[in-house]
Amino acid sequence: MAILKVARLGHPVLRQQAEPVAPADIRSAHVQQLIDDMIETMHEYDGAGLAANQVHVPRRIAVIEVGKNPRYPDAPEIPLTVVINPVVTPLTEETEDGWEGCLSVPDMRGVVPRFTGVRLECLDREGKAVDLVAKEFFARVLQHETDHLNGIVYVDRIRDMRTFSHIAEWQRYWLGIREQSD
Ligand code: NI
Repeated sequence: MAILKVARLGHPVLRQQAEPVAPADIRSAHVQQLIDDMIETMHEYDGAGLAANQVHVPRRIAVIEVGKNPRYPDAPEIPLTVVINPVVTPLTEETEDGWEGCLSVPDMRGVVPRFTGVRLECLDREGKAVDLVAKEFFARVLQHETDHLNGIVYVDRIRDMRTFSHIAEWQRYWLGIREQSD
């Protein structure tokens, strides 16, 4: 296991369209090692999720987990989820504003509208098909991570850039003012 270097905003890999993983490759030692390293990297930096582009590998893999996380103290928990070749389809036209951050945009937060419910179709780390409905914060994180795989960073989706805040000022001036969903 290894902690991988995380690309920061401005690195071109974050703007790359990630390539699908061939189902036959999912169980290879190489892909399994990458998944383990992504999980360890996400834990090390207290991320809620991590997409492979963020560790300089433009493949359609993301890991998500929210336990007790100091970066997201009020977030509902999400069990460790590995998504490969995800297709995320909105189940509603309704969106909700919520705060997001990103390990590739260190120490910043911004308000992003996201669909409140999505269908996730993907493969898991064994290559098995997954088809589930995700709501609220899990739906938000899935949209954030699949955006990464399409070269989109959450900053692109901030509707009101006046919310874009350094975390110290966010804690002082914003926390608890807007409905907080992350
Ligand atoms: Ni991110």
